[in-house]
Amino acid sequence: MSLTSNMDKQNGATTSSRKDEHIKICLEKDVQFDNRSNGFKYLELYPSLLIKYHPDDIDLSSTILGKKIDYPVLISGMTGGSSQGKKYNEVFAKICSEFNIGMGVGSQRAAIELPTLSNTFKVRHIASDIPLIANLGIAQFLSGYGIKEAETAVNMIDADALAIHINPMQELLQKEGDKNLVRILPKLSEITNQFSTPIIIKGVGTGLSKDDAELLSSLNIYAIDVAGVGGTNWSKIESYRNPELKHISSEFLNWGINTGLSIANTEIGTKGSNIKIIASGGIWSGMDAVKSFLVGADYVALALPILKAAAKGGIEELRKFLTSYIFEMKTTMAMIGAENIEILKKRRHKFIGREYILSD
Ligand SMILES: Cc1cc2nc3c(=O)[nH]c(=O)nc-3n(C[C@H](O)[C@H](O)[C@H](O)COP(=O)(O)O)c2cc1C
Repeated sequence: MSLTSNMDKQNGATTSSRKDEHIKICLEKDVQFDNRSNGFKYLELYPSLLIKYHPDDIDLSSTILGKKIDYPVLISGMTGGSSQGKKYNEVFAKICSEFNIGMGVGSQRAAIELPTLSNTFKVRHIASDIPLIANLGIAQFLSGYGIKEAETAVNMIDADALAIHINPMQELLQKEGDKNLVRILPKLSEITNQFSTPIIIKGVGTGLSKDDAELLSSLNIYAIDVAGVGGTNWSKIESYRNPELKHISSEFLNWGINTGLSIANTEIGTKGSNIKIIASGGIWSGMDAVKSFLVGADYVALALPILKAAAKGGIEELRKFLTSYIFEMKTTMAMIGAENIEILKKRRHKFIGREYILSD
């Protein structure tokens, strides 16, 4: 008897085609926020004329999940679950290995439902040493997943951590979304108390409040990925897919907390804990990456520009994108006189006060 039921197989196929649809929408439609930004336009850095460092001497190395990385940059979890997703994951893994940075895969739900899809997430044969992050949604845990599925996801790709994405806006707007989302915190507490692999709590683009960050800081977690407003707009993406939402207001679709403010909120909310902060949600330039560190982030993560670069020109285009992103980070740091991330974070008060980080 097969261990995978027909229902699971059907669900796996639906999940897989939804993931391909998301990629298509992201590549073909406007999926950014209207009249919103990641907040960093309010934070001006002061370039020095009397620079002390050559950009080549700026050290961006860091560690995450016990592994050394050359740059504090991650490719956010996006794909897997289809042949297209497999191709993207493999290109992402190649470039992460080349730059020695971390990578997340997209939600592995499809492969839990239909295990033959597991190979679309596996990248260790390409990137044996990179920090690699597995991915499942809180909605699945609230609908019956437990430690077994968490372990399956991590073991499937030999991951260093599991990201659990919390995306209530997306699920509530998605026509086939899981609406059973109350009791998120007790469920997270149950999982994080039993699971020995590091857990990252991850948003997907509506940002994080100080209250949420405070509540999450009581959990045994490794990091929070803020995924704020300013990058990919998942409310907009789901509204394209759901004809019933044709008349929804633009104000609602563009709702959320910008990334700059989300990072600051998370830093305040998790004070006194060892929880790391991952900045994501429109951190699409090297200068915005530097600004993220100044307001409290430990790493930055990018999704949409990575997908777009890979779709446009594969690994060569990705290499160009990341090379220029890192050039911009290093040059910004040279121009403000911070030779590494640690010093950058210590010097933050020289450049900013919290009053500069305004919600737009
Ligand atoms: C095509 C695509 C698919 C995504 N799929 C997932 C997913 O399966 N799981 C997840 O946690 N986040 C997913 N995300 C969200 C990203 O990981 C990220 O949090 C969000 O897009 C914000 O980053 P950005 O503004 O750089 O795009 C996806 C994003 C994109 C663009």
